[in-house]
Amino acid sequence: MEMTMNNKREQVSMKFVTLVSMVSALGGLLFGFDTAVVSGAIGFMEQRFDLNKIEVGWAVSSLIIGCIIGAAMSGLLSDKFGRKRVLITAAILFIISSIGSAIPETFSGFIIARIIGGIGIGITSTLCPLYNAEIAPAKYRGRLVALNQLAIVTGIFLTYFVNLWISGSGDEAWGIASAWRYMFGVGAIPGVLFLALLFFVPESPRWLIKQGRPADALPILLRIHGEELAKKEVVDIKQSFEQESGSIRQLFSPGLRIALIVGVGLAVLQQITGINAVMYYAPEIFKATGAGTNASLVQTILVGFINFLFTIVALWLIDKVGRKALLLVGSASMAICLLVIGVAFQTGNTAGPLVLIFILIYVASFAISLGPVVWVIMSEIFPNRIRGKATAIAAMTLWAADYVVSQSFPPLLSSAGPATTFWLYGSMALLTFFFTWRIVPETKGKSLEEIESLWSSKEENTTSAVPKLDAL
Ligand code: BGC
Repeated sequence: MEMTMNNKREQVSMKFVTLVSMVSALGGLLFGFDTAVVSGAIGFMEQRFDLNKIEVGWAVSSLIIGCIIGAAMSGLLSDKFGRKRVLITAAILFIISSIGSAIPETFSGFIIARIIGGIGIGITSTLCPLYNAEIAPAKYRGRLVALNQLAIVTGIFLTYFVNLWISGSGDEAWGIASAWRYMFGVGAIPGVLFLALLFFVPESPRWLIKQGRPADALPILLRIHGEELAKKEVVDIKQSFEQESGSIRQLFSPGLRIALIVGVGLAVLQQITGINAVMYYAPEIFKATGAGTNASLVQTILVGFINFLFTIVALWLIDKVGRKALLLVGSASMAICLLVIGVAFQTGNTAGPLVLIFILIYVASFAISLGPVVWVIMSEIFPNRIRGKATAIAAMTLWAADYVVSQSFPPLLSSAGPATTFWLYGSMALLTFFFTWRIVPETKGKSLEEIESLWSSKEENTTSAVPKLDAL
């Protein structure tokens, strides 16, 4: 039906944006679901496959290897084949991986299936925000990026529920034989939904124009913006590509180097402050305090709930108090919590609720700060012309740091002990505080172009942060 009236266009545009956000949300949900599902399964798998500590780490972190590969490939593949087709491939990988992780009889079969799923996550973690940014009207863009984090934590929360429900459906022997298979298998459901929904969303108009297909892009832009604005958009997008000659080398020029340090630095810090030691191994940590299997899964649900709740608080605060204030308060509070948790383990004071309470405050502090803020800053800190490549580099680094933490946590725990392990993460949280204080600029309320001009003024102004950064 032909749209002639403005209010009808507005309705179509809202429906359209909602559909796009739902697709992105499912991508984030799968990210959360597939990364955290292993937390409930690992205890059973350890016994089923008779795993040593290194293998336990590998069971968790093999997925992350896939994520690094997926993030690395996402930019190149989606430039060549389009955002939509690559996202469809990612959805298929999710489904194969969920079924593949549920049925293997050998540990290596399981590892291969998880790496395949990781490639899917690596792709969606980079492409979903990118696709959103390319397709959404400017006024919804920022919120959509942070909403992605809400979808991730919803996925994690959901996983914890599913895990508890499945493990509660039988005894320990059944758990070792079968429960973990169902836990992974359930992931196929959101995978199929994601795949189905992707067929209803259009290709990114930005990508179509880049391919020299403005005629295909125009009807999509019409649906988003209405007639007048759509034509202007085509011209603007074409122009932006004319300027878009950014090469990776530019990232190392004096001004942009700071953007790179901020983006990559925060990506690494988000991980080495230990959040995924808690997200992936929470039930194991609670078991170490003396809780039984089911009690530890219930406590894990609390972790998921707090993570979810405080991410909503962050969405509300991020454009009010700003990114920097959230990072400062969050990292300081994380450092204190990790110190206390370490002391509790060191002094053997783990029988009461102390560890649980401080893990919850730690997770809440992450959820209002490093969780959403790092993904938001990563998507806004780099100039238009190199945003795609630079964001992919930062995402890859984030996954690599995640790999190091999730692989090293079990052996670290058994060799250095929980106290030292948590203190190590605590010292990284302290580093995050100083890093943010000295180096991270406030980007709240600034247009992307204003943020961009920040780097060029740094290039000119030698008395600014540049010398401090060079000294790092
Ligand atoms: C991180 C994930 C983490 C999640 C926890 C995300 O921002 O990138 O690694 O598992 O937050 O909420």
